[in-house]
Order: sequence, then C-alpha cells, then structure tokens
Amino acid sequence: IAAQLLAYFLTELKDDQVKKIDKYLYSMRFSDETLLDIMQRFRRELVSGLCQETNTTATLKMLPTFVRSIPDGSEKGDFIALDLGGSNFRILRVKVSHEKKQTVQMESEIYDTPEDIIHGSGTRLFDHVAECLGDFMEKHNIKDKKLPVGLTFSFPCRQTKLDEGYLITWTKRFKTSGVEGMDVVKLLNKAIKKRGDYEADIMAVVNDTVGTMMTCGFDDQRCEVGIIIGTGTNACYMEELRHIDLVEGDEGRMCVNTEWGGFGDDGRLEDIRTEFDREIDRGSLNPGKQLFEKMVSGMYMGELVRLILVKMAREGLLFEGRITPELLTKGKIDTKHVSAIEKSKEGLSKAKEILTKLGVEPSHDDCIAVQHVCTIVSFRSANLIAATLAGILLRLKENKGAARLRTTVGIDGSLYKMHPQYARRLHKTVRRLVPDSDVRFLLSESGSGKGAAMVTAVAYRLAEHSRQ
Ligand code: GLC
Repeated sequence: IAAQLLAYFLTELKDDQVKKIDKYLYSMRFSDETLLDIMQRFRRELVSGLCQETNTTATLKMLPTFVRSIPDGSEKGDFIALDLGGSNFRILRVKVSHEKKQTVQMESEIYDTPEDIIHGSGTRLFDHVAECLGDFMEKHNIKDKKLPVGLTFSFPCRQTKLDEGYLITWTKRFKTSGVEGMDVVKLLNKAIKKRGDYEADIMAVVNDTVGTMMTCGFDDQRCEVGIIIGTGTNACYMEELRHIDLVEGDEGRMCVNTEWGGFGDDGRLEDIRTEFDREIDRGSLNPGKQLFEKMVSGMYMGELVRLILVKMAREGLLFEGRITPELLTKGKIDTKHVSAIEKSKEGLSKAKEILTKLGVEPSHDDCIAVQHVCTIVSFRSANLIAATLAGILLRLKENKGAARLRTTVGIDGSLYKMHPQYARRLHKTVRRLVPDSDVRFLLSESGSGKGAAMVTAVAYRLAEHSRQ
C-alpha cells in the first residue's frame, strides 16, 4: 500500500508540474484550428512563389530544380556523389547495375568541415572539397577514372539547368565569403582543375530534399515529396510544369525546391513566434532570415530549450532559482540532449545527468519540468512541419484533381531520425490535417547521396543520348 500511495503521489506531482509548464508555455501549443490556419497561409505562399509577378518578393523561393521525374529503373553506371551542407560532409561511390533487377552498391567516407573553413573564404572551402575528393579517389583506387559526379548541395540555388547552381544565400552554420551569387559547380570545377591530379565531370547539383525524394523514389515510384528535418529544414515536391512560371513548357511535372525554412520572413508568422524565437534569431548568423527553420530545426531546438530554462530559473520556477555560467552559455543544450531527455524509459535520468553537468543541482521535480519543456518545444516543431507538409499534400491533391490522395513522402534528417517521438507525432498530425489521404512516410536509409547519384545517372543517360 505504501508503494501504491507513493506512486499515486508521484503521478499527482507529475501532473501538477506538467500543468504548470503547459500554462507557462501555452503560446507554444497549437490547436488543430491554428495548424490549419498556418497550413492555409503556407499554401498562399506556395502560389506566390510559383507566380512570375510575385516570385521575387515571395518568402518561399520555389526554385525549379530541372529534375523532371524520379528514377525510371533504367539507370546504370558508376558514379560519385558529394554531399555538402548537412550534419556531415560525405563522399560516396554509387554503382548502379542492371542485371535482372536494378541494384545499387555504395561505399562512403565522412570528412570534416571545420568551422574555420565554413566561415573562411570560398576558395578555401572548394579547395578543401576538391582535396577530400582526391583523397576519396585515391583510397578507392579510381583516381585514373573520370567518373560522373553528382553534388548534393543543401542550400538555396538558382538553376537554369541541372549542372549549374548559383548560391542565393548561405543558411544554417555556413558563412563562407565570396560564394553567394556564384555557380558552385564552376567553383568546384575550378578547384579540381587547379590541382590537376584527377579529373571529374560534375553532371548535376541537387538540393538534399531532391536527393532524398530521388533516393526514396528509387524504392517507391509513388514518392513525389522530399523533406529534411535535420540541422535545417526544407521540402521539395513534384509540381505541374504549367504552374511554374519561371520555366518554359506546360507538359509534365518538375520538382520544385520550396526552401520552406524562409516561411514567415515577411512577418506572416509573428503571431506565433515567441520571445525565445526572437532571441534565437538575434543571436544567429542570418538575423531576420529562415524564421520558420529557426522555430523547428535541429540546429536551434536545444538552444530554444536552454533559453526557456534560463527564463524559468530567473523567475524561480526551476532549480530553486540557481543559475550557473554553464546554463547561461549558448549551445550548452544540444538537440541531441532534447532527444535523450524525451526517451520514455531513461528520459528522466538523462535529464538529471544533463542538468547536473550544467551545475544546477536539479530536483526530481525539476527533471520532470525540463522533460516537459522539451516535449512542448519538439512537439511544436512536429506540429508546424505537419502544417506545412499538409499544405504541400493538399496542393498535390488539388493538382491531381483526386478525391483521395495516395502518395509517398521521402524523409531524412537527424532530428527526424534520432528523436524518439518525433516521427510518430508528425505522421499522426499530418493524417489528421489531411483526412482524405493515404500518405506513406519513407525514411531515406542512405541519405540523399544515393539520390544525387540517381539524378546524375539520369543526366548521364540523357547526355549519352544527345552525344549519339
Ligand atoms: C536549409 C537550406 C536548404 C536545405 C535545408 C536542409 O534550409 O536552405 O536548402 O534543404 O537547410 O538541409
């Protein structure tokens, strides 16, 4: 009986804590009504990004990618894919063979991109990329081959063809000088030529969302959306060519990179942004830009939690008001910590461990409270992404003129993959917001590199055609 009583009191206590935090952070919790409203705003932004007259002022860049279809199964060959701009810089060799069935073989290496390089000059960055590629080719004994290369470049680029990408602006952690406004394919080619110890033929540059859609499209022909929920967040989808004003032609479809991280950059999300979101923005590399991304993606989530904890501690609502230099240090709480704290079994002991390292001597109640703060922040992220994704799904449904939407969404990104509850919450909310639909969520097992290789394979096949 004593144990039962204790359990009862502990649950009561927990409920109490949870209610207090719910009240404190009420502005971060959204009803379905609000989510549907955000979805409608997003849909209007999609349209203004697609239209010629409004494209330049729209917050969604809606960039044409010149990718017109997902792989059709006839691709084959030996390719290299570079993947720059996510949590890791990866180089892959992808062999696509075509005996009875199309099969893919991959080998990959991860390379460092130190802070001084991504905040240094463009020349240094591309020299570094070319050097890593040289090292990769050496290791894999292919330095004497001129293999077609596909580049996954996870930043907004303006394209008029597949093998060209003018960087519009850096986002996330990157701020390399002299690259904005330049064609990254040219910059990389120049760096490779300068070395002179190997040759490479860069056939395609794709955003990571496009790489993800193509990777998943390889396994599921219905895949027509690609999304990333990692360091940054973004989505692409197959739009009807007749709706893309910036590209000639009316027949068929083309993949469009929405760059949805910039949603709200015109002030349209001010009613749902909090003082914590504003503080994150002020301390970022690109104030006033990527406001949606800053509310939801992995690069900022830990920091959002930290800012909330600091405020609560200051008000005496946590840690008996104890504030330590560690707690006040930017970056001390990482999104990985948020994921650990939200684990259903060990979450509370993880919270204790992480908070103890910050020197705040947390009580059991503090740990429960902090766990709930994490839940609210990560749940808000999943809800907001559900709203924008629902906007894309409704757009697809409308374009098809179907009563019911049957589609597959390819997804990748560290937050989506590592967080214990994120995926489930996202799927559930999307299905609620888009009722007449059968949506399959497909995790990209091998990242976006395989997709970049597939795009390259298609480009290569087409180039071969035109040479013949
Ligand atoms: C940022 C980039 C975008 C990329 C996303 C995910 O939002 O601007 O191009 O797709 O991060 O990596």
